[in-house]
Amino acid sequence: MDENEQIVEEAEAAASEASDSKSLYEAKMRFLGRQGKIASLMQRMKDLAAEHRPAFGKQVNALRARLEEMFAEHEVHMKERELQRKLAGEQVDVTMPGRRHAEGTLHPVTRVKNELIGIFSGMGFEVFEGPEIENDYYNFTALNTPADHPARDMQDTFYLTDEFLLRTQTSAGQIRLMEKKKPPIKMLSPGRVFRSDDDATHSPMFHQMEGLVVDKGITLCDLQGMLDEFARTMFSENSKTRLRPSYFPFTEPSVEVDVSCYMCGGKGCALCKGTGWIEVLGAGMVNRHVLENCGIDPDEYTGFAFGMGIERIAMLKYGINNIKLLTENDVRFLKQFKE
Ligand code: PHE
Repeated sequence: MDENEQIVEEAEAAASEASDSKSLYEAKMRFLGRQGKIASLMQRMKDLAAEHRPAFGKQVNALRARLEEMFAEHEVHMKERELQRKLAGEQVDVTMPGRRHAEGTLHPVTRVKNELIGIFSGMGFEVFEGPEIENDYYNFTALNTPADHPARDMQDTFYLTDEFLLRTQTSAGQIRLMEKKKPPIKMLSPGRVFRSDDDATHSPMFHQMEGLVVDKGITLCDLQGMLDEFARTMFSENSKTRLRPSYFPFTEPSVEVDVSCYMCGGKGCALCKGTGWIEVLGAGMVNRHVLENCGIDPDEYTGFAFGMGIERIAMLKYGINNIKLLTENDVRFLKQFKE
């Protein structure tokens, strides 16, 4: 009996000393494990006389039951203590001010570009991007503008060498595409272009969106129908377009495209300078020489092309009065274009 009490005391002490579940389990095994104290007490049974065995066995079993109960209680407490410790370690002060992440916005030029791609890809156009450094052939000669052509003066060009230049127009992409792909063609070509030009509405670097359609039986009506759809989506449901005769060496006939003023609806206001119309892009039927330069038979195929300044569209759409605002990256300006 004394020995039993002593074992209970020892086990109590070992359980109380355990600092975590693992050491508590180890202590438990020292008493209740397969090689623990209880097991070795049971071993002694075989040395006893047969008549003492039942009583002895009963005592050891009672002792085992006490120890099991005692360890179970300690385990419950230990789990509770460990949970508390974990919670204390993971404590969060919900009253602390949070860390704010500044949220960016898409630049107005990017927004208009994406919107244009959305409109025209809905009509089946595919995006094709040409290089910013072009050679004379793609930027001018193949576009029906040979070296001594007066139309070269329409755009003040940055030459890198006699042969290479910064492209002045995304029209160069028309040639690159038509050299590779034969009709039917429906191409959209966004990109940066460069001209030695600098005032409130012109910047030496700006973006254009070029469009090109070549197929059998394409007419100027197809161009205007498609531009009407573009104007309705980009400006207002009631927008109309108007074509005025113009000149580009790579289109014949060439047109300047106006959109009815979305501010006054065509009555005349400050935005449209009283005319009711706003000029938005240049376009025309692809000149037969251009098709020939790309190995496309102009008697079989016709096409139209258009080119617009993305900054210009953005300025019209958002009422921006100086093109410099689009490159200065002043966050007070950019913040206003949140979705
Ligand atoms: N490339 C012309 C420009 O930059 C625009 C244009 C493109 C005109 C396609 C007609 C056809 O002014």
